[in-house]
Amino acid sequence: MPQTFRVIFEMDGEEVGVDVPEDRYILAAARDAGLDLPSMCEMGWCTTCAVWIICGRIDQSDSWRYYEADREAGFGLICTGKPLTDLRLRPGATRAMREFRRSKGLPAPRATGL
Ligand code: FES
Repeated sequence: MPQTFRVIFEMDGEEVGVDVPEDRYILAAARDAGLDLPSMCEMGWCTTCAVWIICGRIDQSDSWRYYEADREAGFGLICTGKPLTDLRLRPGATRAMREFRRSKGLPAPRATGL
């Protein structure tokens, strides 16, 4: 039996909790729970699904492009991220993550126009 973690999303002033098994992508579990969250590539590349990690840790080993600097700056890609702990996340970090990437000279896809 996989371990299940509690993931709290901070959404427009309200909090929504979702139980996510350790072997499941956070985005897929959140959508099953009824949350409407953006995505595009769903491969951990485009940053459309980026969140701020307020607390907790995410396994990003399935993400195409995810850097230690992203983790240190508190960004996560939930399309290909699995929980390693209980989490508190704030969606809507796409633009901030891309600006951060550019400031560090790291790839910052522009495909979605954000
Ligand atoms: S949807 Fe592209 S990185 Fe998550």
